[in-house]
Amino acid sequence: MTAPLIEGYVIVSADGMLAGADHVMPDQLKFEGDKQFFTSALDRADLIVHGRHSYEDQPNSPQRNRIIVTRTINAVAPDPSNPKATLWNPAGAPFEAACDQSGVRSGTIAIIGGPVIFAMFLDRYDTFWLSQAPRVHLPGGEACFPGVPRKTPQEILTAHGLRAGEAQILDRTHGVTVTPWRRAA
Ligand SMILES: NC(=O)c1ccc[n+]([C@@H]2O[C@H](COP(=O)([O-])OP(=O)(O)OC[C@H]3O[C@@H](n4cnc5c(N)ncnc54)[C@H](OP(=O)(O)O)[C@@H]3O)[C@@H](O)[C@H]2O)c1
Repeated sequence: MTAPLIEGYVIVSADGMLAGADHVMPDQLKFEGDKQFFTSALDRADLIVHGRHSYEDQPNSPQRNRIIVTRTINAVAPDPSNPKATLWNPAGAPFEAACDQSGVRSGTIAIIGGPVIFAMFLDRYDTFWLSQAPRVHLPGGEACFPGVPRKTPQEILTAHGLRAGEAQILDRTHGVTVTPWRRAA
């Protein structure tokens, strides 16, 4: 069986933040074009992975297979509150065990945050889709990866073997773009 593709998705402010200092994603970081891009990517994905506070809360969310990263269990367990969700504690089991529990071992897996969850997969992404809102500034906010803003998100992706492809415009008025960062061959 072909190994699944692993893709990451985030939208960040000019200073590399994915949320404000209150750990909440502010309306300033929400753009219709980015939402459409993100929604259609998640609709195509076979499995999504996120921390307990990064549930995407969209109309199609109940249909999506998901792994929720949490310390509330020791290793891997079905989520008693959602038949399409698996709970996973990386300290107790490898990612593959969580994928087995979820029944997904091929196709595309979308990693959707938060920062620690993004960082767990930095050496494994096939593509990391970095959306940027260059006119939004969230000083003191929650960085998209550990190490930001000392380093930029781009420097961190580069250090993990990813290279920028061509950016697409998601919102012309606000200058919002998405850039695929792909693993160098
Ligand atoms: N701008 C964007 O594109 C974007 C993307 C993603 C998220 N966000 C926003 O950013 C904020 C992220 O919140 P957050 O920082 O609290 O992140 P989070 O990763 O969604 O949730 C943190 C929780 O994940 C679990 N977790 C994290 N690291 C773990 C580890 N190493 N082992 C086991 N479990 C672990 C813990 O759950 P337990 O407490 O259950 O143990 C922890 O409380 C949210 O407001 C979200 O909406 C924005």
